[in-house]
Amino acid sequence: MAGLEITRQLLRMRRDWDRRAKENARHYVVTGQHEWSDEEFFKSGQITLEEEILNDLPNICQGKDPKEMKVLEIGCGAGRVTRAFAGFFGEVYAVDISREMVRQAREAVVGFPNTHVFHNNGKDLSALYGGWRGRFGIATRFQIDFAFSIIVFQHIPSRKIIENYVREVHKILRPGGLFKFQVQGCAVDETEPDHSWVGAFFTEPQAREMAERCGFEMRYQYGAGDQYYWLWFFKK
Ligand SMILES: C[S@@+](CC[C@H](N)C(=O)[O-])C[C@H]1O[C@@H](n2cnc3c(N)ncnc32)[C@H](O)[C@@H]1O
Repeated sequence: MAGLEITRQLLRMRRDWDRRAKENARHYVVTGQHEWSDEEFFKSGQITLEEEILNDLPNICQGKDPKEMKVLEIGCGAGRVTRAFAGFFGEVYAVDISREMVRQAREAVVGFPNTHVFHNNGKDLSALYGGWRGRFGIATRFQIDFAFSIIVFQHIPSRKIIENYVREVHKILRPGGLFKFQVQGCAVDETEPDHSWVGAFFTEPQAREMAERCGFEMRYQYGAGDQYYWLWFFKK
């Protein structure tokens, strides 16, 4: 996936998210509050774990013990959810486009040796299976059981980049495994100048077509037309 516009969008996202992370990472991660104590911030990650994972265990674990599962989080920010995942799943891999967010996420998971946070290029997962060949072996041998993303794709202005992530997850997810993620479902003004804040939106047919193109079954969806439009993509 080349293209000048994509390259420009990636540069803009990296620069803007680094700036936001240095200014006040936790505020930009969850804008409801300006100042977050450690306790409040990580409690909000725990609430996300309860709402999106613990309430949905049959789809996510499919009978597996969570402690036996390898999971991926795309766009981990300052480690709010990553830390909650670290205490619940066996192995956690997380990526983020911003070096400063990655630094803060690594700090958040100090004491959790089962958790690995990578700085990535904003469009694929080669940070996991590419540069770390020696560690993980070839890409096809690196497999995850579940992938997750929240409040990330709603900020990505390009459907091509979002779809590329879906294809990338397909490469490393085990057959039958779930990629549960949230996109913008509300028809936003995509001409908004700050393109690293207002992301592309998806209608239900667009989401379903993307699932088909990328080798997934879109089995469930929730919140079409809303900012928090949740998609359950099961790998065929
Ligand atoms: C609003 S924060 C949410 C962080 C985290 N998901 C949470 O809920 O706590 C959005 C995060 O997505 C990251 N991000 C934005 N665009 C990205 C991209 N193209 N690839 C990877 N991460 C991205 C940002 O750096 C930021 O850390």
